[in-house]
Amino acid sequence: MSETLEALAAARLVPVVVLDDAAHARPLAGALAEGGLPVAEVTFRTAAAAAAIAEMAKDGRVLVGAGTVLTPAQVDEAVDAGARYVVSPGFSRAVVERCAARGVLALPGAVTATEVQAALEAGISTVKFFPAETSGGAAAIKALSAPFGGVRFVPTGGIGPANLAEYLALPAVTAVGGSWMVPRDLIAAGRFDDVAAMVADAVALTR
Ligand code: 3PG
Repeated sequence: MSETLEALAAARLVPVVVLDDAAHARPLAGALAEGGLPVAEVTFRTAAAAAAIAEMAKDGRVLVGAGTVLTPAQVDEAVDAGARYVVSPGFSRAVVERCAARGVLALPGAVTATEVQAALEAGISTVKFFPAETSGGAAAIKALSAPFGGVRFVPTGGIGPANLAEYLALPAVTAVGGSWMVPRDLIAAGRFDDVAAMVADAVALTR
């Protein structure tokens, strides 16, 4: 397992962040660190993503990765900004290959046996299981683990305090992704103490 993957596995949770303003990146890093979850997946869904990743990378308190990465060009943008891992909603060979060329961990999405096989062929053995709840949830991961014993999953999408435990209980689950502990509106409002408290509550659920 790569060092980055080990860090994600140790964290058990990957907070999926949407940042509207790169100025929020450092205070958010502080809230995550204070809450006991020194990890962030900053999604390329806003224009602020690359600048936010750069701020977090310079800040150094959290392991920062990029999310919603759809193209090799975005891989370059993310890695140039300091992203240590790259998450995609689906599987793209071009994105995975650019991640390998840039030396960063790729976490592509895969929810079917065919997609998992494609990921394996591309040298990937840990995939994002997205969107988790509408793709069969924990039961689907358990079923996929029978033929794909060596594959590990990071289920994300529709997971929260009420169903977190059923995913974390699976041996094939490395970590769980989610946005519930980093609400976009609280971040946009600068309520970082509240975010830190929600992060701490989420971390408590993993213990
Ligand atoms: C993602 O991109 O990983 C998802 O939007 C996160 O899903 P969630 O908001 O349901 O946690």
